[in-house]
Amino acid sequence: MKPLVAGNWKMHFDRAGARALAGDLMRSLPAPLEAAEVAVFPPFTSLAEVAAALSGGDVTLGAQNFHPEDSGAFTGEVSLPMLLDVGVTRVLAGHSERRHVLLEDDAFVNRKVLAALKHDLLPILCVGEKLEEREAGKTAAVVERQVRAGLKGVPPERAGDVTLAYEPVWAIGTGLNATPKQAAEVHAQIRKLLVDLWKEGGRGVRILYGGSVKPENSRELLKTPEVNGLLVGGASLKADSFVRIVRAAG
Ligand code: 13P
Repeated sequence: MKPLVAGNWKMHFDRAGARALAGDLMRSLPAPLEAAEVAVFPPFTSLAEVAAALSGGDVTLGAQNFHPEDSGAFTGEVSLPMLLDVGVTRVLAGHSERRHVLLEDDAFVNRKVLAALKHDLLPILCVGEKLEEREAGKTAAVVERQVRAGLKGVPPERAGDVTLAYEPVWAIGTGLNATPKQAAEVHAQIRKLLVDLWKEGGRGVRILYGGSVKPENSRELLKTPEVNGLLVGGASLKADSFVRIVRAAG
């Protein structure tokens, strides 16, 4: 399976900054992209600009957030039809910042996953434990709950459209990545859950690692069993470091 390297730009860049970064990626990444798939997730206000800057290339466009309803009285929200309209093909669901800062629960994350699939958008379901949960020995229980709840009602024939991302909350933006051993343990657990849910179909689902991924640790993380790609925050904000991470994938 080809690794996927995804850059989550979070709440960074105005339109000019986003366009500049997308342009730098277009110039610096190998074309065609052979060894890896690459996706970027700019803020809403820059999606159309980045879509234009990426057109004709292999880097695909993702959105960081959306509301599961198609339209309606949801002030401040953005729907999947709106995202499709600007060229988005992937979406994040269950990112730790949405779970823990914006208080989205498992049931809402599940609605988002199902809604994305309904529109043929490819969801990346993010899961991961907080530091106190790891220290209390609850990592496996938290990850199992988030995976099972997030994927509830997704039929096995849609397994190929789903990506998982293990992002331990304590590793996000802290400079402290999970060790390959820690990542391997949780990724193996997620693989088992996917196979339990979807049988053979669960074996082909990518499981990304995210949390303080940098050019310096990306190669080792990508060599870790069951790590099928990376979800990159801070290091995706500069073309140079993101391109080095993509090159590490192949
Ligand atoms: P950092 O790479 O900045 O730790 O962020 C990870 C992340 O949250 C990607 O979604």
